[in-house]
Parts: sequence; structure tokens; C-alpha cells
Amino acid sequence: MDDFVLARIVHVLGVVLWIGGVAFVTLVLLPGMKHLQPASDRVAMFERLENGFAWQARLTTVLTGASGFYMLYVLDAWERFSDPGFWWLHAMSAIWLIFTVMLFVLEPLVLHKWFARRARSQPDSTLALIQRLHWVLLTASLVTVAGAVAGVHGG
Ligand code: HEM
Repeated sequence: MDDFVLARIVHVLGVVLWIGGVAFVTLVLLPGMKHLQPASDRVAMFERLENGFAWQARLTTVLTGASGFYMLYVLDAWERFSDPGFWWLHAMSAIWLIFTVMLFVLEPLVLHKWFARRARSQPDSTLALIQRLHWVLLTASLVTVAGAVAGVHGG
């Protein structure tokens, strides 16, 4: 097995664990929180449960990005960034950048405290906001996966 194939395997496994986890949080965990009583505990409980996934997401984001850049290096395909036909490469990089900033900068430094403060006065609308944010990220990620698979395999 050559380096490129290994990098592709790491890349796809990273994507499966990472985006699969985002799907679980969006489709199962967050809707399940709506039944938790009292409502004021919902955001705190969600953050406690999601914290375990956040570490997995940080690791898989790093692995996916590193293997992606390594594949570009092996292919020597940097010029694809200036070709609109490779929109899926731009989409992959944008999703990666958004999650990297969210997971490593915004969540630990800003969002965690902001959500906790907002959840004390408006628990329901805060949970709804978190749910909307996850829907946007999941939809964009799935469109990107579809575009990348079609793009790589000549679609
Ligand atoms: C900076 C981040 C990323 C870079 C540089 C990158 C780069 C690449 C490269 C070079 C390929 C192989 C292209 C080829 O064989 O011609 C690829 C494939 C792929 N990437 Fe990424 N990628 C990144 C992030 C992502 C993300 C965030 C996702 C998912 C949301 C993703 C999903 C995929 C998929 C599904 C494939 C196709 C695998 C296959 O069918 O063989 N990538 N990526």
C-alpha cells in the first residue's frame, strides 16, 4: 500500500467519525435534550455529553486536515485551489477551517461561557440556536462529502 492510499484511508475514516458524530449530535442527542426537566439544565447537560465528542472531533479534524494536505502535496495539485471546477476542494477546506476555529478557538474561549450565560435566562431559545447551528454545519458537511466523492470519482 502506498502513502497516498494510506492518507486516503485516514482521510475517509476521519470524515466518517467526525461527520458521523455531528450527525448523531444533531439528529439524536439535541432532540433528546428537549425532554429533559428542568429546562434550565438542558444546555448544561448537552454540553457535558457533547464534551466527549468534542475531543474526538478535535482529533479527527486534525487527522482529516493533515491527510488532505498530504494528498494535495503528493498529487502536487495546489493549482486546484484556483480552479472553480474543484469547488468541492474549496468546500472541504472551508468546512475544515470552520470546524477548526469552532473547536479550538471559539468553543473553549467564547461560546461555552456565552451559551451558559444565555441558557440561564433563555434555556429553550439557546437550545434551539445550538440545534440550528448544528443543522447548518451538518448540511454543509454532507453536501461537501457528496461533492467530494462525485468530484474524485469523475462525477
Ligand atoms: C483542509 C482540509 C482538506 C483537504 C486539504 C482535503 C483534501 C482532499 C484531497 C486531496 C482528496 C483526494 C482528491 C483526489 O483523489 O483527487 C480528498 C478526498 C476527499 N475528501 Fe477531503 N480534504 C479536506 C477536508 C475534508 C473534509 C472536511 C471532508 C468532509 C466534510 C472531506 C471529504 C473528502 C471525501 C469524502 C473525499 C473523497 C474520498 C474518496 O472518495 O476517495 N475532506 N480530500
